[in-house]
Amino acid sequence: MSNKRPPMRVRRGRGALDPNRTPPPEVWEKQPLTLKGFVGGDPAKRPRWKNPIPPEPAPWFRYGQSSEQHRARLLQFLTSAPLEIEIGSGDGRFILAWAQAHPDRHFLAFEVRWKLANRIFNRAQEAGLKNLWVSDNDARLVISEVVPDGAISVVHLLMPDPWWKAKHYARRIISPWFVDVLARKLRPGGILRMETDVEGYPEWAERIVEAHPDFKPHNPELGELFADAPLTSRQEWCREHGFPIYRRFWQRR
Ligand SMILES: C[S@@+](CC[C@H](N)C(=O)[O-])C[C@H]1O[C@@H](n2cnc3c(N)ncnc32)[C@H](O)[C@@H]1O
Repeated sequence: MSNKRPPMRVRRGRGALDPNRTPPPEVWEKQPLTLKGFVGGDPAKRPRWKNPIPPEPAPWFRYGQSSEQHRARLLQFLTSAPLEIEIGSGDGRFILAWAQAHPDRHFLAFEVRWKLANRIFNRAQEAGLKNLWVSDNDARLVISEVVPDGAISVVHLLMPDPWWKAKHYARRIISPWFVDVLARKLRPGGILRMETDVEGYPEWAERIVEAHPDFKPHNPELGELFADAPLTSRQEWCREHGFPIYRRFWQRR
């Protein structure tokens, strides 16, 4: 075991997440309308938009700031090869290597922290990757508004924030309405892949995903498809420190 500091905020020692505690249904029902609980809230009002994005046609999409032509470019990209989306890419350790390993697929990386999104973008450019776009919007907004139905082959949700406090539960990325969005956007046979080191989180997510009629129950055999997937930075840290990672794979019917 090394003493190296974790690259991300690491919330250990909080015990397990209680799979039975969810936000009141009305909070979830209102969320897609009010954008309450979205990171940055309404992108049109987001104060941190002072951070610049690279000039078009660079492969970076920001909702409400990208032109119609740029949105059309993104649409063309999303529909011209098998599409994989990562939600919460952090420093991009996984998605950059995975995109490099699969030049025949297209990737869209969501990371709301601009600094990290910018880092992913710069590294992708340096590596000459032509199959990766970046967005610093809340993934939930862009996926529901911009990605065509049935377009996604895989959604990677790797080490999502657990949001421990009850008043923040609604910020967890998995919710009934967002699972419904994913069911529409995944192609039949497409996969929702979730990995976490937080005990109880897989069970919490499982209840919500498996309550949706379009998702099959978790199938561990699908893990074979990702056996050679690179680790994220947080996963690398967990591996070094001997913390287990729990995996779930749900297939769209
Ligand atoms: C716990 S970190 C994990 C980062 C990386 N996946 C890893 O394993 O090292 C979660 C990341 O997701 C990002 N994030 C959280 N909610 C998001 C959302 N709705 N859309 C896009 N990114 C999000 C956060 O900014 C954060 O960088």
